[in-house]
Amino acid sequence: MLEQGETNKSELKKIPVIAVTMATGRQGTGVVKELSQTNKYKIRAITRDLKSSKAQKIGSLNNVELVKGDLMDPESLNKAFEGVDIIFGNTTPTKGWKIFRGSIVRSYEMEQGFNLINQVKIAYEKGQLNHFIFSSISKAKNPLKNDPAPGHFTSKWDIEDYVEKLDLKQVTTVLRPVSYFENFENKLPGYSISKKIFPGIVGKDFKWQTIAVEDIGKWVRGVLSKPNKYKNQSINIAGEELTGLEMAMTLQRIVASEGIQTNYVMIPRVAIKMLEYDIGVMADWIERTGYGADMNKLQTIQKELDIVPTSLNEWLIAKLEQQKKTKSSWARHWKGSQWKLQWNK
Ligand SMILES: NC(=O)c1ccc[n+]([C@@H]2O[C@H](COP(=O)([O-])OP(=O)(O)OC[C@H]3O[C@@H](n4cnc5c(N)ncnc54)[C@H](OP(=O)(O)O)[C@@H]3O)[C@@H](O)[C@H]2O)c1
Repeated sequence: MLEQGETNKSELKKIPVIAVTMATGRQGTGVVKELSQTNKYKIRAITRDLKSSKAQKIGSLNNVELVKGDLMDPESLNKAFEGVDIIFGNTTPTKGWKIFRGSIVRSYEMEQGFNLINQVKIAYEKGQLNHFIFSSISKAKNPLKNDPAPGHFTSKWDIEDYVEKLDLKQVTTVLRPVSYFENFENKLPGYSISKKIFPGIVGKDFKWQTIAVEDIGKWVRGVLSKPNKYKNQSINIAGEELTGLEMAMTLQRIVASEGIQTNYVMIPRVAIKMLEYDIGVMADWIERTGYGADMNKLQTIQKELDIVPTSLNEWLIAKLEQQKKTKSSWARHWKGSQWKLQWNK
């Protein structure tokens, strides 16, 4: 077992080294936490800012070393990937906050993707890298020809194509998550989750596949436990498949004893498109085409890989527990009726 401060160089050599890109992000943090607990890996957590509070937090976990790297800077990736056995690769389309068509920038994510895959190729050709896990986005079950999918989905799928073009498929596992539960924690006035409001971007009767973002860490741990079987595979991953109403009912059942009524509230599509057009296109796409995770097949794989997915019910209960313990701004949102007062301050 690898204990912090108890390792020597020869022991470290035998332990696989995994580089985690965007390590301070929601997925990256989940991956780092999950792998840290296994004591089976030396984790190189890549961030652009070694001193940020998020970086410091993950840097304090067992078996984690913070390493500077920017997906827009190939040289920095080259250094960060030096001598690694495994890479967890993620990319982001989010370039700051700008209303309408500004926050999600396809070219920003594509450039990161090309830089990432080019450096994976270089690391692979050097001979030590043996497994690349790319975090993409769920595809549709029956992709429609010429279907106008959101730009930030097609960029992920185009990066997947680039993995194939560079002949890296045989060492790559593509994980394709659906929408995070964490999206319910949006900060839109009147549409943030509370005991009274369950917000959604699709109509109340549409099935919407979702996942707890930290579960992506469990998936990474899982595929790393059976690398040979899961290389050259792409898996749409989800934890739940519920309609908007069913999701609201899940919360309703938890708060019913307090005499609270939870309503599913759909964020108006026109408002979403005004805030960020591509998210509106995504909502249209989810209603029209839908994510394509095969929930039955996932159950079998999860069993094999020792993954217990977080249910929406568990996630909501954990968030409410957190609310009791902390006085975070997020927790204030949950007080529903008091929320407007907070906002008006
Ligand atoms: N939201 C959803 O429901 C959902 C579902 C499926 C897939 N996705 C996809 O997931 C991806 C986002 O992952 P996430 O949610 O984990 O991200 P996130 O929480 O938004 O984290 C972004 C992190 O990326 C790092 N970062 C930003 N620009 C960077 C750059 N140029 N180079 C290196 N690091 C950079 C930042 O870390 P530092 O400042 O520390 O460097 C930041 O902590 C997107 O592609 C999105 O489309 C999202």
